[in-house]
Amino acid sequence: MLGKKRIAVIGFGTMGRTLAGGLVRAKAVSPSRLVVTGRSRRPSDGGRPLPGVVYLADNANAARGADVVVLCLKPRDVVAAAADLAAKGALDHRPLVVSIAAAVGTAALEAVLPAGTPVVRAMPNTPCLIGKGMTVLAAGRRATARHLGLARELFATVGRVLELDEKHMDTVTGLSASGPAFIFLVIEALADGGVMRGLPRQVATELVAQMTLGAAEMVLRTGKHPAALKDDVTTPAGCTIAGILVMEDGRIRSVLARGVETAARVAAELAR
Ligand SMILES: NC(=O)c1ccc[n+]([C@@H]2O[C@H](COP(=O)([O-])OP(=O)(O)OC[C@H]3O[C@@H](n4cnc5c(N)ncnc54)[C@H](OP(=O)(O)O)[C@@H]3O)[C@@H](O)[C@H]2O)c1
Repeated sequence: MLGKKRIAVIGFGTMGRTLAGGLVRAKAVSPSRLVVTGRSRRPSDGGRPLPGVVYLADNANAARGADVVVLCLKPRDVVAAAADLAAKGALDHRPLVVSIAAAVGTAALEAVLPAGTPVVRAMPNTPCLIGKGMTVLAAGRRATARHLGLARELFATVGRVLELDEKHMDTVTGLSASGPAFIFLVIEALADGGVMRGLPRQVATELVAQMTLGAAEMVLRTGKHPAALKDDVTTPAGCTIAGILVMEDGRIRSVLARGVETAARVAAELAR
């Protein structure tokens, strides 16, 4: 379905770059079919256009020629930008509009878009840049299975995709969208333990990163409960259970779970 579709990525910040970069890297769309827009060109902060990708300063021009318009804007900006596109007639051809903004529901966008415009809400994460993303999709009222399929195909080129009811999107934001930062913190902390024992930082980080990758793959591939996989590693009276008990003393589970809960609660407020 994606084949010859033209994609406009509106907003060339962290996620606009991540998504556009991921799509180009995955060869999901030819660069000439991808248009990105930004409010300000700031090459010095890494906001350079991707090779071959058309970069426009004008959102309306980008949207006019697109089959899929992906709004990669901050929650506080996205509705106004969508309304501006609608006012300029840039969505009169009723492209699929995908918004990755946290906190902004499909209804808020539908309210400012031309009647009948299909909207899909997506919550990706930064590993989309390397094809290992996790994206959750939720369909708006006017999005059909075909629109959802198109959005699925788009994000599947940069990682895994799940479809959920829109009521879960704030939770997803606090879990899989904020999650890479949580895991980076855990990786750094575990590596600290290795450094404390004398490993060079780079070696410790590599060990932890590859271990994290392997552990995550085991969860996905085996479908086993993580507790069962943990038990497999935990020899009675061994070193692993000794380490786990120290972590449990530090309330590691509730700290991580409450971190996600709080991130989700804050995510829900981001549009205000
Ligand atoms: N960061 C994540 O990990 C992540 C993950 C999932 C979803 N999200 C969601 O993705 C959205 C974007 O987040 P982000 O981290 O990419 O933010 P960001 O880095 O601030 O990017 C937003 C970009 O949009 C540009 N922009 C603002 N208004 C514009 C307009 N009217 N037309 C064109 N470009 C405009 C901004 O340009 P200026 O800098 O010139 O204002 C900025 O470059 C947010 O809604 C967030 O909730 C983020």
